[in-house]
Amino acid sequence: MARLATVYVCSQCGAKSPKWAGKCFECGAWGSLVEEVEERLSPKEEAKKTRQDRISGKPAGQSGPVRALHEEDAASTHKNDRIQSGFTELDRVLGGGFVPGSILLFGGEPGIGKSTLLLQAVANLARQGKRCLYVSAEESGPQVAARARRLGIPNLENLKFLATVELTEALDAADQTKAEIVVADSVQTLESTQLESAAGTVSQVREVARAFTALSKNRGVITLLVGHVTKEGSIAGPRLLEHMVDGVFYFELAASGAYRLVRGQKNRFGATHELAVFEMSGNGLIQVENPSARFLAERSKEMPGSAVVAHLEGSRPFLTEFQALVSRCYQGYPRRTVQGVDQNRVSVLLAVIERSLGVSFADRDVYCKVASGARIEEPAADLAICFALISAAEGESLPADLIFIGEVGLGGEIRSVSGLGARLNEAKGVGITRAIVPAWLLKEANDTKGIKCIGVKNIREARDAIPKGARKTASDPHPPNRELPF
Ligand code: TYD
Ligand code: MG
Repeated sequence: MARLATVYVCSQCGAKSPKWAGKCFECGAWGSLVEEVEERLSPKEEAKKTRQDRISGKPAGQSGPVRALHEEDAASTHKNDRIQSGFTELDRVLGGGFVPGSILLFGGEPGIGKSTLLLQAVANLARQGKRCLYVSAEESGPQVAARARRLGIPNLENLKFLATVELTEALDAADQTKAEIVVADSVQTLESTQLESAAGTVSQVREVARAFTALSKNRGVITLLVGHVTKEGSIAGPRLLEHMVDGVFYFELAASGAYRLVRGQKNRFGATHELAVFEMSGNGLIQVENPSARFLAERSKEMPGSAVVAHLEGSRPFLTEFQALVSRCYQGYPRRTVQGVDQNRVSVLLAVIERSLGVSFADRDVYCKVASGARIEEPAADLAICFALISAAEGESLPADLIFIGEVGLGGEIRSVSGLGARLNEAKGVGITRAIVPAWLLKEANDTKGIKCIGVKNIREARDAIPKGARKTASDPHPPNRELPF
């Protein structure tokens, strides 16, 4: 007879422990162990089960005849042609579209738009004649139908729907409808009746993912799993599944709240860290095809301290406005308040500016932010950040059609960056006509026609290269301290 036993499972990494502990002994996560009931088999029963599994061919689909690797592709039952989702933004993040036989996980906080995007995507696929099945364990038929109407999805014979929490019913429905694309919404609410534990626990989530992986690998079905991530990460969540699936895509809200971003975290069929930008409207998610133009539309062109930054997310360039404000310090210790970039990095750049150009921030408070709410990690933004800070300190705005691209070293030297051509092309699209770039890359920069590039070796040369005639603000409430050497 199988016994039931209590175990404690880490919701982050899945490690099991017989006793509760505050910290997972395996991955070191705090407060991640959750209680679960597990079926314990005697060694005899275990051996019998393994034998049965072998006879019934489990784990399904993972095994097959041994053959030469090059024959595998030809023998594959499903073609490797990509299937377009109808959203060019999403396709780029996927690496060119959905690959038949893949299982992908879409994670994100509740209410971010996972169900909406996947419903829109399968409707697009059903329009192309693909057989789609949407399994919802969270919402009823009428609820999803009402959403589909709101999204303007017409009646589609190929788009089937099933509201169930039972895993076997979902798999049966996939078989009956001969679905080519299955959405399982969500992995935490579907449950296998074979297991004792409740839906959403580590073993259930894993079993649901395992069953859908088998479906994908056996039959070439594209499975799109929805997974919720809570801020605390207390529920067995997508993190646990990352290694089981072919791709993991996270939804996040841009800090400004206006945009929803889909970011590739893992992708066996394309590059990771690609980013798609969406906007939630009354009629569902709309892709934002030219985010740079949107981010720069409300730019304060004449404000000192404003500079355009070109940063790459994956292979994709984005232009955003970086703003700096420098004001007189009324306390003993000057403030450095920074949003969207690392505070230490700003401190380093302030020191480089002071040493190389003699612009002192010693008695000034410095505030900076990235206007679109993006986060800029790339060193290529250093030069733009430096000149936003200098411009704010001196009360002189920078020319609106000028962009700075380059990494700044501790000696004030300008270093090369990757993807210069992509950045310049994106800049050209929003009306930038001049660029200050690392001297080493001037030849590459000149390949981009339509932008006049100036190559510089250090921050002093960059400063001299700024076209004169930038205007001074008429009413700077805190004019710069004239005793300072600038
Ligand atoms: P939803 O897709 O259900 O999020 P998730 O599945 O990630 O939990 O819904 C996202 C939010 O978007 C929800 O709060 C309602 C809102 N929404 C709109 O603003 N417009 C729409 O057309 C739809 C369908 C939803
Ligand atoms: Mg949902």
